[in-house]
Amino acid sequence: IHIVEDAAAGGVVVADEIQRVLEQADDRGPVLGLATGSSPLSAYQELIRRHREEGLSFADARAFLLDEYVGLPDEHEQSYHRFIRENLVYHIDLPEERVDSPDGTAEDPHAEAVAYDGRIRDAGGVDVQVLGIGSNGHIAFNEPGSSLGSRTRVVGLTRSTIADNSRYFASPEDVPIQALSQGLGTILEARRIVLVASGENKAAAIAQLVEGGISARWPATVLQMHPEVVVVADEAAASRL
Ligand code: GLP
Repeated sequence: IHIVEDAAAGGVVVADEIQRVLEQADDRGPVLGLATGSSPLSAYQELIRRHREEGLSFADARAFLLDEYVGLPDEHEQSYHRFIRENLVYHIDLPEERVDSPDGTAEDPHAEAVAYDGRIRDAGGVDVQVLGIGSNGHIAFNEPGSSLGSRTRVVGLTRSTIADNSRYFASPEDVPIQALSQGLGTILEARRIVLVASGENKAAAIAQLVEGGISARWPATVLQMHPEVVVVADEAAASRL
C-alpha cells in the first residue's frame, strides 16, 4: 500500500509498475490491462510524459480494457473505447488495433463477453492490470453482489454508480444502465494488479478492500485473494485505514 500526497505522486507509482512490465516482457510482448475513469489519468499522463521525454515505448505491447457501456458506439464521447484513445493511446506508440475492449454494440453481448475472455486468454493473459474503484467498492463494473468467480458478462449498473458516473453525461437518464465487464474471476487472473484511488468518497471502499472481510458486498475485497496487489491511495482515500 502506497499512501501518496497527490494524484501526480500516485501516477508515478503506477507508471513505474507499467514501465517494469514493458521492460521485462518476453517474446509474447507485454499485455497491459487498462482502466478508464478519472483515477488512472495521472498515471496515463506520466506514461505519456515518459514516452515523449524518455522514449518509453509501447510498440510491442497490447492492451485490454476492463469494461464498456452496453449500447454506446465506439465514437460516443463517453465510450471507454474512445476514452482510452483520447487519454492515452493517441499520445503514445501503442498500435491502436492492439487495444481491445468489449464491444458494447455487439448484436449478442453475451457471446461477445465470452469471446472477450477468450481474446485475453489467447494473448497469454494480462501482465499488469490497472484498476480504479467505485465508491461502493466495485471494480470494473462488478457491482456489489457480483459472484467472486465471475467472468466477463453483461451487468446491470447500480443506482449509486449511475449517479457517480452521471457527471460525464448530460443527465442521469443518459447513463447506460448496463455494461459489459470483465468479471472478478477474470480480473484475478492478471499477474499483478495496481489499484489507484483518490478522494474521501473512496475511503470506505479502500478500508473494506484492505481491512474488511472478503465479501461480494464489497467486490474489491476479492483482491485479498490475489498474491500481488499494489494499492495506491491519497490521504483522503486512505483516511479510514
Ligand atoms: C467506473 C468504472 C470503473 C472505475 C470507477 C471509478 O464506473 N467502470 O472501472 O474504476 O467507476 O471511477 P473514477 O476513477 O472516475 O472514480
